[in-house]
Amino acid sequence: MKPIHVIGMGPGHPDYLLPAAMKALKQCDLLAGGSRLIEAGEPFAPPEVKKFPLKSDLKTWCLQLQDTLRQQPEIQAGILLSGDPGCHSLVPMLHQHFDSNALILVPGISSVQLFLSHLQLPWTHGPVISLHGRRTQWMDVLWHHSFINLLTDSGSGPEVLAKELLEAGHSDAVMAVGENLSYKNQRLMVGSPQEIRQQAPYQMNVVVISLDPETRAQLQQRKNALSSLSRPDR
Ligand SMILES: C[S@@+](CC[C@H](N)C(=O)[O-])C[C@H]1O[C@@H](n2cnc3c(N)ncnc32)[C@H](O)[C@@H]1O
Repeated sequence: MKPIHVIGMGPGHPDYLLPAAMKALKQCDLLAGGSRLIEAGEPFAPPEVKKFPLKSDLKTWCLQLQDTLRQQPEIQAGILLSGDPGCHSLVPMLHQHFDSNALILVPGISSVQLFLSHLQLPWTHGPVISLHGRRTQWMDVLWHHSFINLLTDSGSGPEVLAKELLEAGHSDAVMAVGENLSYKNQRLMVGSPQEIRQQAPYQMNVVVISLDPETRAQLQQRKNALSSLSRPDR
């Protein structure tokens, strides 16, 4: 079996796809991953590239991929992951099914990294927590660090987080939402929990929350500038 490229696809737009990722995609005979990512990777892959779309049952999907690659060891596979493979990705699961030395990780630009750059805030302000399929005690983490970056899923969107902040008495928190980052329908928002609730519903997004007065002031200052930030052209 050939080593598998595990490719960080960035937030979605090709402007944020690293040249190393483009090079790896060019070598692939098979693209495995979510359909949004396969669509983003296809233009960089050979025309006859095969597709192996992600199924909701991740374990079965990994086992089927493993089988396919065992049966056809000449295939060069690329597993496409959103953002950076080092940020709350499938890599720990891939380690359970593939020899880690048979995986070549290609880093990508994380959705959190892109959003923080729009907000002009550093990575180092607070932890990055994923709420995918889990109800992590994110409020405790926020309380401890005064600042948090959250990867949300459909059950933990900004309006749900805003409601929980209000119920906990944090109406003075400042929230920022980066929705559909790098896409045409991108929305960048800064507001109080009450304001963020009013802008629901949300699609794919990351959320930044601050309780710290200095960062709250910085975020408020970015609020108007965000609406005029240009997006990459399609
Ligand atoms: C499984 S996590 C993977 C995170 C990824 N490894 C990264 O570095 O961005 C998927 C979550 O990342 C966030 N995400 C990924 N791409 C995004 C985008 N273009 N715009 C907004 N959020 C995005 C969303 O919170 C989504 O639910």
